[in-house]
Amino acid sequence: MSEPGKHPLGVASELATKIFHLISEGRHFPPSPRLIDRGIERAGLSGAHSARVFDVTLGILRWRDRLDNALSKALTKGSFKMPEQAKNLLRAAAYELVVRREDEPAGLVNKVVDISKHIAAPDGRIGKLAPLFNAVLRKIAGSSPEPMPGDDAGLDGFSTFYSIPEAILSKAAEQYDRIWMNKMCRSTGDRFIHHLRVNPFVEPNEAWPEALNAVRFESNGEIIWKADSLSPEIRAANIEGKIVIQSLPSQTAAIMLDPRPGDRVLDAASGVGIKAHHLMSLIAGWGDLVLCDISPEKRKICLSNFTRWNVPEPDYRLVDLADSDAVVRGFEGDRFDAILLDAPCSGSGLIHHLPEKRYTMNLELLGEFQALQKKMLRNCLTSLSPGGRLVYATCSIWAEENECVTDEVLCESEGRFERSERQVFAPCGRYPGFFIEKILSME
Ligand SMILES: C[S@@+](CC[C@H](N)C(=O)[O-])C[C@H]1O[C@@H](n2cnc3c(N)ncnc32)[C@H](O)[C@@H]1O
Repeated sequence: MSEPGKHPLGVASELATKIFHLISEGRHFPPSPRLIDRGIERAGLSGAHSARVFDVTLGILRWRDRLDNALSKALTKGSFKMPEQAKNLLRAAAYELVVRREDEPAGLVNKVVDISKHIAAPDGRIGKLAPLFNAVLRKIAGSSPEPMPGDDAGLDGFSTFYSIPEAILSKAAEQYDRIWMNKMCRSTGDRFIHHLRVNPFVEPNEAWPEALNAVRFESNGEIIWKADSLSPEIRAANIEGKIVIQSLPSQTAAIMLDPRPGDRVLDAASGVGIKAHHLMSLIAGWGDLVLCDISPEKRKICLSNFTRWNVPEPDYRLVDLADSDAVVRGFEGDRFDAILLDAPCSGSGLIHHLPEKRYTMNLELLGEFQALQKKMLRNCLTSLSPGGRLVYATCSIWAEENECVTDEVLCESEGRFERSERQVFAPCGRYPGFFIEKILSME
């Protein structure tokens, strides 16, 4: 007999149960590849078995709706009431039958029924469910396979191995080409790469870990550092404020704004101040930077970050950038030569770094985000000096929050503002998806 904790399908269903639990609690959990790796290690599986666990776990996460639908149809009374782990074992088996179209369905069903006898439930083992497992899975195995969404929508290349839910995948396919989709999908298993900046406001480099020196590379003429794991030295350097962890696309926003000597700079929507610190580093000593945000809590964290980074307390104003009167009051009619608007957004570019976003993202909220983003962009443009420049950025991959916002606002400006540059980063293990656009005042 197969113990669930020793068989790939049992391990996959246990991991999926754990991941769903973390998602439902709204907690950030370690990226699924790591969580899955650890589960495989603990179960003592390796080689082909571990690849199968990976595939099945991601498959259960990604295809849950479709699998539940197939299972509900096969359950005579239509009831799917059973412990979560049992449900996920059924989903794992259904995944093999429906999505991967297992060659020897009868053997697979026997194996799964066998595993089900060992599943621990709150009220003891749930071996009594074994006959139900047998009946349901045989029914699914005997029915003709339903077409997969990818079969007709050209998404099959991105199907079973990846854990991005169908709604997100089809939405992305409307907007991006296959190369982009491939990059996004394949990266669900990428290792993380952390990007770092050295904080120029603390005493210089002699104590930098060797590891940091070894991974230096250059981008846009600025030195950006990357490290593929957060070693204890790098963590300590972060806590001591010697470095700032900031993804490459996020660093590109301030670089694209290109603050110059004598500029008056506004960091709109400063949050806890990561980009503000970058701007401050770029204008060090010769520029004038104003920060603002609607959130007093974030302002407080930002001020304590600035102390940690050894930067004098910034001019940080609490302003609702969606309200034109509040903007006039907040800046007292002041204008800025350079504005960075890092707008609030759905965060869809983070689907690899925060995997629960794949399951919790509500696409129906995009309209609300867009309305807020347009208001904030319009109000920021009214605060731009003639001849000034603004960078609009989001960590979203959706056009609704990106080019749709800038296109509409630029169009209504009737030539007073024009786009000069745009950079779009596809989300991947190395960095989140990001949109950055530079707008110039033509006055
Ligand atoms: C993407 S975050 C900014 C992150 C920040 N730039 C950084 O690098 O740390 C967006 C910010 O917009 C702020 N925000 C949301 N609605 C706002 C509004 N109506 N007016 C001003 N800020 C707003 C949020 O509080 C949040 O801090």
